[in-house]
Amino acid sequence: MSIDQLAETALAMVAPGKGIIAIDESNATCAKRFESVGIPNTEENRRAYREMLLTTPNLSQYISGAILFDETLRQKTKDGVPFAEVMRKNGIIPGIKVDKGPQPLAGFPGEVCTEGLDGLRERLKEYASLGARFAKWRAVITIGEDSPSGTCIEANSHALARYAALCQEAGIVPMVEPEIIMDGDHDIDTCMEVTEVVLRSLFGALYDQNVMLEGTILKASMVISGKSCPEQASVEEVAEMTVRCLKSAVPAILPGIVFLSGGQSDEDATAHLNAMNQMGPHPWPLSFSYGRAMQAAALKIWSKDLVGNVAAAQQTVFARAKDNGLAAQGKWKK
Ligand code: 13P
Repeated sequence: MSIDQLAETALAMVAPGKGIIAIDESNATCAKRFESVGIPNTEENRRAYREMLLTTPNLSQYISGAILFDETLRQKTKDGVPFAEVMRKNGIIPGIKVDKGPQPLAGFPGEVCTEGLDGLRERLKEYASLGARFAKWRAVITIGEDSPSGTCIEANSHALARYAALCQEAGIVPMVEPEIIMDGDHDIDTCMEVTEVVLRSLFGALYDQNVMLEGTILKASMVISGKSCPEQASVEEVAEMTVRCLKSAVPAILPGIVFLSGGQSDEDATAHLNAMNQMGPHPWPLSFSYGRAMQAAALKIWSKDLVGNVAAAQQTVFARAKDNGLAAQGKWKK
């Protein structure tokens, strides 16, 4: 795979007014989401739920790609068509979560490092053969009294860069996701400081590992007040500080940046993205790769009647995609 093909995929992922829907919850995370609405976490329910999401009519108007979990990439619609094929036909690029989740970082109580590099070369080959064209790896950085440590940041950046290099070798666009978790009482300035250090470390590691930035997408967390911080920054402050932080730490050659929602309300996630794009133009397209902020409302509706409510749930998925697609162009109105 040439760099041109990787770059073409990366650019398609952040095409104007389009973003990504993240539906790559592990079975354990899916269990939590389903439990919150009283649905048993069976393989068939997970399949039916993902079918409902992926077959939303006209989804590709605002959605360029979807990140799947390993199980989902191997599943089919009730009519027996592999999800990856349905997506390709509908103009949605298949993506795959390849990390194996965060594990405690030995010697650094309370901190974690994402694992999954062992055997990754072989797994990526298989994922490519199953139709995946981009991948995701999420690092988790927590802000606390003595954290994050430099060691935690470096270990996660190194793993992200090793993953990204392996993806490109397999012809898959790496989405690199260093998530700075919203939990905590830290203020927005602290979040800004940590985010900048983390991004500088990540792009240093990508450079060291010969990762071609033209074929890479950054999935970033916004610069935002900690959830339990008494002083919550305004939409404008979040947008302004996030853009400033990205401009100081992310090379302009990157094809695009997409945000995670990280536990923000649906409306906040859309409003923040919209405000950032109204401050543009920026060196890169700024779009979305939301999980909860794309799915939460639809899951609630679907859970009330798994068969009868498919169309109503899909209307909500489409509405969220549209709002976020407009926000990716700074054209959303409350
Ligand atoms: P949220 O938007 O729910 O944070 O999920 C995005 C994601 O993929 C996290 O890895």
